[in-house]
Amino acid sequence: MSVAPIGKDLLGLEHLSAEQIQLILDTAGPFKDVSLRAIKKVPTLRGMTIVNLFFEASTRTRISFEFAEKRLSADTVNVATSGSSVQKGETLVDTARNLEAMKIDMVVIRHGASGAPKFLAERIASNVINAGDGTHEHPTQGLLDMLTLRDRWGSLAGRRVCICGDVLHSRVARSNIWGLKKMGAEVAVCGPRSLLPNAIDQLGVHVFSRIEEAIEWAEALNILRLQLERMQGGYIPSLREYNRVFGVTRERLERAPRDVIVMHPGPMNRGVEIDSDVADGPHSVILDQVTNGVAIRMAVLYLLAGGRPELADAAKGS
Ligand code: CP
Repeated sequence: MSVAPIGKDLLGLEHLSAEQIQLILDTAGPFKDVSLRAIKKVPTLRGMTIVNLFFEASTRTRISFEFAEKRLSADTVNVATSGSSVQKGETLVDTARNLEAMKIDMVVIRHGASGAPKFLAERIASNVINAGDGTHEHPTQGLLDMLTLRDRWGSLAGRRVCICGDVLHSRVARSNIWGLKKMGAEVAVCGPRSLLPNAIDQLGVHVFSRIEEAIEWAEALNILRLQLERMQGGYIPSLREYNRVFGVTRERLERAPRDVIVMHPGPMNRGVEIDSDVADGPHSVILDQVTNGVAIRMAVLYLLAGGRPELADAAKGS
């Protein structure tokens, strides 16, 4: 396989350049059109085999990768912990090496352990794409969030985005911070001190402790899910209290000095970090994020496959 313009693997946005991020966002454009056609399929990755290894629950990312692969004509196999030999104690590397023995080309992996995709990428020849690892990164989510904002604004440079809520446990927050800052945006975080990482200001972000201040400052809010499954207790007094102090509500948005774009990576805790009339309201681009996820994942798959011009022609012309 030829050397890809974004490298062999996509493990995170921390180590991508602004030019590489720009390339992925630009490449997603033509792929968006594929999903609008009556026949949503191009032969771009015909003959390639991609394994989706999902060791943590997922709706959007898993299905979106599968649609992206199928729309590019790749052959796909889905492996989950349940029903696989992982349940019998097989290691991640043994699982991947056995899959490679069946001549696969790429692995898309979601794993509860931060660093699992990198660990795998160093040990197998196939391209590895991180579909979310522990609290580390979720690069394709960061990319689809940036594409959604770029669709609205034309450019991310100088724009103000606040990431709100459970930043401590959020791989989405980390990918957004790395990506947005590289693209010239100003980034802030807002949440209770217990849900912000200790050294968060060292990432070059503004820190707000009041949601009202964040809403006054921001042009876009990316509202994070409270990851209750990663909390051992003691982070917040109660869900009701969290909503009262940090919830993004219609009343709070109405006091904003400008129209604020509302984003959420999903799945949402309605009535906790975001109220339903905000999630479903006129400022929300939450379903646009989901639509853009397919195009971003098509772009990443295409670029990792080598980004060869004849593949791009196939995407445009078929
Ligand atoms: N945004 C996101 O990662 O959603 P899923 O957990 O449903 O994939």
